Amino acid sequence: MNTILFVCDLDNTLVGDDLALEQLNVHLAAHRQQYGTKIVYATGRSRFLYLQLLQEKSLLFPDALICAVGTEMYFNPTEEESINHQWAEILAWGWHRDTVIEIATHFPNLVPQPISEQGEFKVSYHLKEATTADFVPHLESALAKHRLETTVIYSGGKDLDILPKKANKGLAVQHLQALWQLEQIPVVVCGDSGNDIALYSVPSAKGIIVGNAQPELRQWYEENQNNNLYFAQSSCAGGIMEGLGHFGFI
Ligand code: GLC
Ligand code: MG
Repeated sequence: MNTILFVCDLDNTLVGDDLALEQLNVHLAAHRQQYGTKIVYATGRSRFLYLQLLQEKSLLFPDALICAVGTEMYFNPTEEESINHQWAEILAWGWHRDTVIEIATHFPNLVPQPISEQGEFKVSYHLKEATTADFVPHLESALAKHRLETTVIYSGGKDLDILPKKANKGLAVQHLQALWQLEQIPVVVCGDSGNDIALYSVPSAKGIIVGNAQPELRQWYEENQNNNLYFAQSSCAGGIMEGLGHFGFI
């Protein structure tokens, strides 16, 4: 057994089945103690909503928190000052938040999310009921027309995030790998929805898709199946344990 870099989404991936989470935590804590495995959470939540979740669920303390869909990174999530400023500098380049908002205003099916979920490098909306993903290319081309280098992320049929081009969960993980000089150790990534798709692009990552994955991730999986991807039968933490077993890590 080796050290691994374990990267995991929170909502409906790590969290969602309390009993399975408890069991997975035992495996992860032991792996960390024995092999020095690093645990990173990669969530769409803001740090504010992460701290709220911490009150409700028993989560191991991570080595880093990637939050706000990869637009922020903290080395100690309970301390705001532990934010990675270097990452913020990378994202700031070519990002024009006000113009992004102005363009999105022309799409009436986008309803702004609460202020806690708006970030310096993240503009987020809820989708009005019965909105399908079809309008996303229109939004993308409106943004491109203004020469804005953005990434549009559609998740769970209900959320839409507009981020700087270089911001997503996967690129944030790669930044951490370089920073920690951990490019050579195996990386395992786990997710359930659209904002996790970028995680599976981390070079040579072993990807676990939990059994309860959202349609957009299922569809992506259908089109991108390969030996580094495992679609679990079980949901949430149960699916993660299944995948860790499949790849021979537990
Ligand atoms: C989380 C965030 C939200 C985001 C969604 C999808 O729910 O709180 O802002 O839109 O993830 O990425
Ligand atoms: Mg999720």
